Amino acid sequence: MAGDVVDLILADHRKFEALLRDIRNEEEDQEEALRELAAVLVAHAEAEEKEVYPKLRRKDAIDSEKAEHGEHEHAEGHESLLRVLEVGDPSKEDFGDALEELTKDLAHHLDEEERTILNPAREEIEESIRQELGRAFMEERQRQLDNDCGDIENVRRLVEEARASGDL
Ligand SMILES: [Fe+2]
Ligand SMILES: [Fe+2]
Repeated sequence: MAGDVVDLILADHRKFEALLRDIRNEEEDQEEALRELAAVLVAHAEAEEKEVYPKLRRKDAIDSEKAEHGEHEHAEGHESLLRVLEVGDPSKEDFGDALEELTKDLAHHLDEEERTILNPAREEIEESIRQELGRAFMEERQRQLDNDCGDIENVRRLVEEARASGDL
């Protein structure tokens, strides 16, 4: 049993925030926290785009503008994540600036997604469908993780694709 897609998405959002705190904290394994954030962030965004946004659109819980805006913000997040991964070393001066940018992009996207996508999903989509969507979301998320989706080369590929398709 995977659970309600809204709860699963919210749990990931809180996980991103916790990992960002660990990445800033010199007493934590910052590089490990960054690897984990990269993987779960990309897996989450890809699973939302492939399994959640299209279904919410078909059910008229959100319009295509909201879904496209969400995809644009995912691409921006991946671009900021790529900069952090490119610096890589938390002790480098540029790391803090890159991390600050990623933190801002993420805070903005999580706020907007929770207000304008998850709230309508809760109201407009019946419980059994939210459970079904939860399963599909977790399956795609796991498939992404199994394919090492947070690897810098994959993140670079996603950013390049977003540039080519006009999402960035
Ligand atoms: Fe999300
Ligand atoms: Fe998202």
